Amino acid sequence: MFIRKAVMSDVDTIYNLIEHYAKEGRLLSRPRISIFENLQSLYVVSEGDEILAIAGLHILWDNLAEIRSLVVSPEHAGKGIGKLLVDHIVSEAAKLEIEKLLSLTYQVEFFKRCGFTIVDKETMPQKVWKDCINCSKFPNCDETAMIIHTKNI
Ligand SMILES: CC(C)(COP(=O)(O)OP(=O)(O)OC[C@H]1O[C@@H](n2cnc3c(N)ncnc32)[C@H](O)[C@@H]1OP(=O)(O)O)[C@@H](O)C(=O)NCCC(=O)NCCS
Repeated sequence: MFIRKAVMSDVDTIYNLIEHYAKEGRLLSRPRISIFENLQSLYVVSEGDEILAIAGLHILWDNLAEIRSLVVSPEHAGKGIGKLLVDHIVSEAAKLEIEKLLSLTYQVEFFKRCGFTIVDKETMPQKVWKDCINCSKFPNCDETAMIIHTKNI
């Protein structure tokens, strides 16, 4: 099992994994075009031909990035893979000299285990909400904003 950057042939699997959970309302759906456009910021955990998990590192603002579309395939949940991938993305953000990594999430306990703390959404710069206008829940966002300081890891 290893973590690598996503490539074109991963796009369908990434799309299907996100859709699986999006249908349950557990994360936001993402059109294929968005996966193509953001392919360079996506990471996958792979084993042989299988993709076990995916997540994106999306730069938002000066010193601020967001972890997006974090998904562990249902067959591999609960094995530490989600935390492994989050830790990797935090260290990739640190390498890029990004000080803070944000998650907008329903998985508060999971992100606490990964070292994130809850922050008031109102304290986030407006840039964070740029894509929210496309969300079906806008303007009634019920996700929790959580932050990790990459220098503290
Ligand atoms: C949430 C998700 C990414 C977690 O990944 P995972 O590989 O199953 O989690 P891990 O096994 O790495 O868990 C790490 C720790 O978090 C805890 N944890 C994981 N999910 C949890 C949950 N829903 N509630 C409470 N604790 C949780 C684990 O018990 C573990 O604790 P430990 O360090 O004390 O052992 C995964 O279940 C998933 O893909 N869910 C559906 C999509 C989703 O909600 N994504 C998040 C979008 S922001």
